[in-house]
Amino acid sequence: MSRMTRMAVVLLPMLIAGPAQAFDIEAHRGGRALLPENTLPAFANALSMGVSTLELDLGVTKDRVVIVSHERGLNPDLARDTAGAYVPPPGTPFVQLNLADVKRYDVGQIRPGSKYAENFAQQRAVPGTRIPTLAEVFALVRKSGDKAVRLNIETKIDPRKPDETVDPATFVTVLLDLLRKEQFTDRVMIQSFDWRTLQLVQKQAPEIPTVYLTQQQGPEPNVLAAAATPWTAGYNPADYGGYVPRTVKAAGGKIWSPLYVDVTPAAVAEAHSLGLTVVPWTTNAEDDMARLIDMGVDGLISDRPDLLRKVTQQKGVTMPIPAPVTP
Ligand code: G3P
Ligand code: CA
Repeated sequence: MSRMTRMAVVLLPMLIAGPAQAFDIEAHRGGRALLPENTLPAFANALSMGVSTLELDLGVTKDRVVIVSHERGLNPDLARDTAGAYVPPPGTPFVQLNLADVKRYDVGQIRPGSKYAENFAQQRAVPGTRIPTLAEVFALVRKSGDKAVRLNIETKIDPRKPDETVDPATFVTVLLDLLRKEQFTDRVMIQSFDWRTLQLVQKQAPEIPTVYLTQQQGPEPNVLAAAATPWTAGYNPADYGGYVPRTVKAAGGKIWSPLYVDVTPAAVAEAHSLGLTVVPWTTNAEDDMARLIDMGVDGLISDRPDLLRKVTQQKGVTMPIPAPVTP
């Protein structure tokens, strides 16, 4: 066999299949087991250790600025006012606050004595930390020089609580305008439990991959095998034999992101046969990570990106390159 023929034998399958997709190591809320969730110190830490994706949550303020927060309003377990007092529950929705108001609150330390503090006892507090805008996160990514990292950005909107956020159309318009202005459309995936926003993204920005979040068990499932829910934009798994991956495919999703305890080898195989990528949330234990990787998932979302790097490295995954940066 000539040298040219040998090269063709090696390269042709790669050219046909395209480059192998690297395993997706996602830092959930920037890695909230390590540093305050959804903040610049957490994202800087994740970039500095090397992750493939920053996972984060979004809200829109009264003056239509996209900010980064898991809750739809000030979180009583996180937000302290200028006098140092944690805000009383339920916490004012961001849709009632301008950015300047939001920036007055310190979210750098979990409320001592709370269940959240107990769950993340190892988190290092960074007092004085503010809720970032999404534009500030983009600036941090640029500053890091990391050209490979992506952002998995979640529209936090609840179909049962329309007064607590902007409506889906406004949310998507404001978000897409920002992504285009910042030239980040090719570095994001947009995820949501509320599939209404994903349907709008697919129509208005079909080049952005959509991530369908599902939770089939626990007190508040957003997807049921036998019925549509307010979360699924009219898609009913019962119309697809009760199969969630088929429903996600029919809805136009590229990525299926299930609660990790819902994942089975059969569901992963079915999703792959439909061309979906599977990235479960949120695994923080080494044995769960290893079990899911062995099932063939394409990535994992974790509050412990350091541990996820360790486990995936042991499985032979090429590590994302660290991009040291300070917030
Ligand atoms: O990316 C999925 C995961 O972030 C969903 O859970 O509640 O942490 O936003 P949550
Ligand atoms: Ca999230």
